[in-house]
Amino acid sequence: MALTKKDIIKLLETEGSNPDALFKQSHEIKSNNCTNTTWLRGLIEYSNICSKDCLYCGIRKSNGLVKRYVLSEEDVLSATKYAYESGFGSIVIQAGEVCSEKHIKRIESLLPKIKQLSNNELGITLSLGEQSRDACLRWFEAGADRYLLRIETSSKDLYARIHPAGYSLERRIEALRDLRDIGYQVGTGVMIGLPFQTIENLADDLLFMRDMDIDMCGMGPYIEHRDTPLFEFKGTLKPVSWRLDMTLKMIAVLRMLMPDINIAATTALQAISSYARDKAIYAGANVVMPNITPMECREHYNLYENKPVCDDLSKKTNDLGLFSQGNSLHFKKRTRK
Ligand code: 5AD
Repeated sequence: MALTKKDIIKLLETEGSNPDALFKQSHEIKSNNCTNTTWLRGLIEYSNICSKDCLYCGIRKSNGLVKRYVLSEEDVLSATKYAYESGFGSIVIQAGEVCSEKHIKRIESLLPKIKQLSNNELGITLSLGEQSRDACLRWFEAGADRYLLRIETSSKDLYARIHPAGYSLERRIEALRDLRDIGYQVGTGVMIGLPFQTIENLADDLLFMRDMDIDMCGMGPYIEHRDTPLFEFKGTLKPVSWRLDMTLKMIAVLRMLMPDINIAATTALQAISSYARDKAIYAGANVVMPNITPMECREHYNLYENKPVCDDLSKKTNDLGLFSQGNSLHFKKRTRK
């Protein structure tokens, strides 16, 4: 659907019972354009070691209170086996950003083992931060299918305010372009309700995703973490209920802009309310990522406060779940020769 920035702002500003009409429309668009299926991805939080110091993130390098871990190959493969045997179509390997050769090699050697263990059936998504083109290429050649790299915000000013000096939005965009160029299905996303963020910023974020022609999106509410520098602005934040509603509206408008992409109902939504993910699915999301990280590590992967340790996918969502790789239809169309 062609929407101008003005149209988008107006939709994001709808309040009271009016968003219901918006969600009904986005739900219909989803039903008409995606298979009517909620894809399940098993999320493996591979490591919380991070070389970055993002001002919002609980596992930032300077947070000395975090107990750091890296999963063993055995842990990853047993989580993979669980995902495969439970009928999940794909897994996501997520970690803090580490760019050492040792890290690149470990992932590179894991990928074929995951494929082999699952008869080549499990899709593999990586979410390992901003890496060199070469590292991304090696992982692609070793079997990774998709890559998630959130832009966090498409506003240069806001990006600078939520990151340490020297972090570059341009470099991040370049990394997204490299991923697409290599052949990955590419996902990005933003946080919603950040300090200093405006509705106009959010409208620009949606237009950014449309213009980048992304295949997948994961976006969720910003949730403050007390051991991060951004916590100091807690008093300026919009209420959590506002952030939840705005996330739902962002999902709905993105679904209108990009009818055939995969949109995740993210974990951060679930941190706010246990029904938030169901609402997101109604509003246009078609992917849920249950956490399958070994239990004893989950409490250490606290990107934000109250991050849920258990995944209580509601019965309703479970009934919606269907299992296959669930490739983005958008990706299929854009790569069709
Ligand atoms: N609130 C919400 N999301 C967060 N992330 C990191 N910190 C926070 C926070 N405080 C998100 C970022 C990152 C993803 C892995 O987690 O968008 O890309």
